[in-house]
Amino acid sequence: MKNLKVPLAIENYIDNLHKRVTEAPLGRYLKDMAGAYQDAESVLVEDNPLVYRFWTFEPFPGGEGELAFGMTDLYPGLVGQEYFMTAGHFHRGSGGEIYVGVAGEGLLLLLTRDGELETRTVVKDTLVYIPSGWAHRMVNIGDETLRFTAFWPTGIEHDYASIRRDGFGYRVLKTEDGPKVVKCK
Ligand SMILES: [Fe+2]
Repeated sequence: MKNLKVPLAIENYIDNLHKRVTEAPLGRYLKDMAGAYQDAESVLVEDNPLVYRFWTFEPFPGGEGELAFGMTDLYPGLVGQEYFMTAGHFHRGSGGEIYVGVAGEGLLLLLTRDGELETRTVVKDTLVYIPSGWAHRMVNIGDETLRFTAFWPTGIEHDYASIRRDGFGYRVLKTEDGPKVVKCK
């Protein structure tokens, strides 16, 4: 096959991905997603921390049936009571995804467009299948960096706008009894 830009085997997959993340990270700072947090305004006055960074690999050719993959480092932190989290998105049309936990402790929020919520705890070696139609947002509920890899079909469109516009409907707050998922008003 010509034009194959994805190695058929990546030795030490995680280490190599991490190296490339370090070289060319795509970062999301708090200001990039200020509206997602209940108390972002007060935090933004003083600071603009890096919330997460990610690296993705879209194979070429990326026609139907190929798989893209990537890795995310989601840092520990709080905005008020609310844990650091990813922006979250839907896939337009059909297209599932697989997340695999590598390090740390996360809570994955899954949401339908009708507002139905499911959550999954993600730690090292957890595999979660995200079916078509479910938005996904990862929340770092631990004290260390949460690292996870993801695999998704090439060619899908990511819909971040719906979550930016409507919110996710639920927040994950740090309490004395541990993480608590609360519905937004
Ligand atoms: Fe996705």
